[in-house]
Amino acid sequence: MRIGVPTETAPGERRVALVPDIVRKLVAAGHEVVVEPGAGAGAGIEDSGYEEAGATLGAGVWDTEAVVKVAPPSPEETQRLGQGSVLIGFLAPRTNAEGVEAIAATGATAFAMESIPRISRAQSMDALSSQATVSGYHAVVMAAEEMPRFFPMLMTAAGTIPPAQVLVLGAGVAGLQAIATARRLGAVVTAFDVRSAVKEQIQSLGAKFFEVEGLGDASGEGGYARELSPEEQETQRAALQVQIAKSDVVITTALIPGRPAPKLITEEAVRNMRRGSVIIDLAAEAGGNCEGTKAGEIVRTDNGVAIDGSLNLPSRMPEHASRLYARNIESLLELMSGEEGALQLDFEDEVIETACVARDGKVA
Ligand code: NAI
Repeated sequence: MRIGVPTETAPGERRVALVPDIVRKLVAAGHEVVVEPGAGAGAGIEDSGYEEAGATLGAGVWDTEAVVKVAPPSPEETQRLGQGSVLIGFLAPRTNAEGVEAIAATGATAFAMESIPRISRAQSMDALSSQATVSGYHAVVMAAEEMPRFFPMLMTAAGTIPPAQVLVLGAGVAGLQAIATARRLGAVVTAFDVRSAVKEQIQSLGAKFFEVEGLGDASGEGGYARELSPEEQETQRAALQVQIAKSDVVITTALIPGRPAPKLITEEAVRNMRRGSVIIDLAAEAGGNCEGTKAGEIVRTDNGVAIDGSLNLPSRMPEHASRLYARNIESLLELMSGEEGALQLDFEDEVIETACVARDGKVA
């Protein structure tokens, strides 16, 4: 298979779909990899790194059998897709219907990394998880940078500093990584999720599970949460108020597939927080878990609380985010390879079938 790696052109995107170590493995498996010069620059990877790994540098990345990307292609890039080619990347099928229709219209076959089913066999292809891991970690680093206080407890000759109180709302992949990272920095961590199955995972990381009285388990389909009723949401918001006021840092990650992010932190709750406290809202792209969140901005309130709605956190750690993503892509390409590495798409395969968003000129 001839695989093309274009330079990412979306504003602020520093990741790249393949890194040299993975290119080396793909070449050894019989594939040919073409990389656009400069494609790895944002992630600190030089062209020579790709060449040494066996890739060819060239502008013909769109004239390949499989174009691998991180962000959705721009309209101009979409027009460069060949009719028989395969496109793989985060294509945002839930929010970018127009873009997916345009891809389908080119006749290319497209696979969205967001749509890889979350089954055991596909874990190595689960880019939502690999990138959420980066986000969860980086959210804590951002909070530590923003906060005018320490995370760990310190006992020094100049006095004792109490440990930071961190609250994590939503304990999926990003939330669990945020808990682990905040614990490593020495914070006292409390976490909450509406899926009660997560309680044990939270506790195993050394955090306290926050119980909301009167709220039962809200597990939905496929391991995700269901949307709470307005009454349940009110119960949750009221219960969280006191804990939020006690927290130096709140990291929110709560999402419901295909729905706006649930509002967990009211303006009033923010007003009750101490000056210098920080909220990192990882759900900003889906509307935010905090009422004051503005996507892509840091809002500083009159009472001195920073609400950080930064987008695309994985792009701020482009080297390791790209490395994990490249491994996800490699794994999917392996599944698409037949004899001697030839492209072979088996639509009887659940992973291939579910991840496909455009085929035969139509949106799948
Ligand atoms: P997500 O990013 O969709 O949501 C984040 C978290 O927010 C979830 O844990 C959800 O329960 C929680 N949430 C939703 N509404 C909430 C509310 N009102 N208050 C508090 N929390 C709320 O979730 P993510 O990280 O993508 O993982 C979802 C599930 O998928 C998990 O059960 C995870 O274990 C599972 N999973 C399975 C995989 C596999 O089998 N290969 C791989 C990765 C995840």
